[in-house]
Amino acid sequence: MTRTLVVANQKGGVGKSTSVMNLGVALAERGQRVLLVDLDPQGGLTAAFGLDSYAAGRSAYSLLLYDHISLARVIRPVRDQIALVPASIDLAAAELQLVGQANQTHRLREALQRSRIPFDTVLIDTPPGLGILTANGLVAADEVLIPVQCQYLAMRGVRALMETVVRIRARLNPALTLGGLFGTMYRPGSRHAQEVVAELRQVFGRKMLQTLIYFDDVVPEAPVAGLSMLEYLPDHIVSKEYRDLAREVIRD
Ligand SMILES: Nc1ncnc2c1ncn2[C@@H]1O[C@H](COP(=O)(O)OP(=O)(O)OP(=O)(O)O)[C@@H](O)[C@H]1O
Ligand SMILES: [Mg+2]
Repeated sequence: MTRTLVVANQKGGVGKSTSVMNLGVALAERGQRVLLVDLDPQGGLTAAFGLDSYAAGRSAYSLLLYDHISLARVIRPVRDQIALVPASIDLAAAELQLVGQANQTHRLREALQRSRIPFDTVLIDTPPGLGILTANGLVAADEVLIPVQCQYLAMRGVRALMETVVRIRARLNPALTLGGLFGTMYRPGSRHAQEVVAELRQVFGRKMLQTLIYFDDVVPEAPVAGLSMLEYLPDHIVSKEYRDLAREVIRD
């Protein structure tokens, strides 16, 4: 059975794309067959794998807009066990083009369901904001994973997202569950970061996962080399944390 997880947080720059890439590679290290879907018109995840989202050709856009395009024609192998649905810049227009169309929020779900390619895990990266693209991710998924930057005001964005999850569950995808929240860009020496994590644990209990992803200036270097942290610096603490997160996510 394929498990489909969407990584979402309407706040920008909290580590969504970084987490999708590193979690994907960590799951593949454990032998899983992984599909990554880049729903962000900015194409950060696509670029991190060294693909040019301006020249992507068939992309998540084709999957969302055209019923006859199959997943098989859109995916690119990016590692032995990992395939990617790249983003392209025209995804920015998809939002407007989908408005008013039948099943505008179910397009990705239907495309994934039509496919017979066996994946163990599908990980969907979403853009910041709570528009139709993010909604397509939330409707296609079984579970939502929420990266939360360990900083002041982090809670505010999480509340808005929670309300969206509740609304999507009520109207569009009753099977959607909260897979969990996890802290990103954590600075262990910071009292403030510790307080934010304590508050998240108090509010969300066990849904706040144990793993914290530490902040390190080296993390942005990996995608420049077209690599995940796990490949760029396999023994780095952040690589270890993403392996821990993978273990928590698959409840091993
Ligand atoms: N643990 C970390 N330590 C330091 N920098 C990080 C860490 N995780 C991510 N970053 C950097 O922070 C920036 C934002 O991360 P990322 O692109 O993953 O966020 P995002 O939520 O996908 O952003 P957007 O909402 O714009 O899509 C990137 O430059 C990334 O390299
Ligand atoms: Mg991103």
